[in-house]
Amino acid sequence: MPLPKAELHLHIEGTLEPELAFELAARNGVELPYADTDELRKAYDFEDLQSFLNLYYELMAVLRTERDFEDLANAYLARAAAQGVRHAEIFFDPQAHIARGVAMGTVVEGLWRALGESEARHGVSTQLIMCFLRDESAGSALRTLEAAKPYLDRIVGVGLDSAEVGHPPVKFREVYEAAAALGLRRVAHAGEEGPPAYITEALDVLGVERIDHGLRCVEDPALVERLVRERVPLTLCPLSNVRLRTVDVLADHPLPAMLDAGLLCTVNSDDPAYFGGYAGDNFDAVRSALGLGEERLRELARNSFLASFLEHDEERRARYLAEVDAYRF
Ligand code: ADE
Ligand code: ZN
Repeated sequence: MPLPKAELHLHIEGTLEPELAFELAARNGVELPYADTDELRKAYDFEDLQSFLNLYYELMAVLRTERDFEDLANAYLARAAAQGVRHAEIFFDPQAHIARGVAMGTVVEGLWRALGESEARHGVSTQLIMCFLRDESAGSALRTLEAAKPYLDRIVGVGLDSAEVGHPPVKFREVYEAAAALGLRRVAHAGEEGPPAYITEALDVLGVERIDHGLRCVEDPALVERLVRERVPLTLCPLSNVRLRTVDVLADHPLPAMLDAGLLCTVNSDDPAYFGGYAGDNFDAVRSALGLGEERLRELARNSFLASFLEHDEERRARYLAEVDAYRF
């Protein structure tokens, strides 16, 4: 039995496995510029975040109907459950779909068909976080929040993703203020490729409660001290960092030093279909490459539930934490 954990940094579009991509392409009459899954997998040799994003957005062309989004989410939830995920807070990128003529309602209703029965079917509780694409305009983000208003009972919070450098958090001040006024939780990618100052700005200007990635905080000791003091969770994604070349090899990942510094780190999969592994694979990888002991792994699992947005159901959080404490490696 795998260690129970929560997944807090997972882009549902990044769970599109090549096999499902071809299946959906055939179902929807979409032509992919790859002969087969082997040829597609060969394109997964990324140089940086942008080279990944190019493929990530290209493959979204196969996602067209509610059923497509339902199938995508069900496939992810089955894999996550098999790797010990008990709770998942799932990002989605509506602007990337709306731009292709796929409505917000199609995306949310489709995902919800799978999420609504996830506990019964997969034993995984779920929440949805809508991300804004930071390389699109602030106005586009505001229009996206407007389009989400009929679905806010299904969306727990907002996030910020896509190409980071040159798109600082402050660009999205207004839409984050509007999201807060609607009672939405706030997170943002920061310090993945962008500088540590983006982490500070996400906290101070956007009011985020968690930082997605946040890896580059290690370059600024005063910032690390603040993150420790304020108990700001970081949703790290070790296999993603290697595949996107933020870190040369996994053995060089700063996770052990970050834990030693007292940071509230969690381990997540980001875009598991593209980066070589789901949540449990990321745990296994850091265990073997970084020599993390059982108590460190248990700490990471505890952190994932502590950092999750389960305030509406503290009994559930306590149950998950008890499962982690009782876990025998
Ligand atoms: N969109 C999907 N994965 C992402 C990542 N790792 N960083 C920024 N945007 C993303
Ligand atoms: Zn991400």
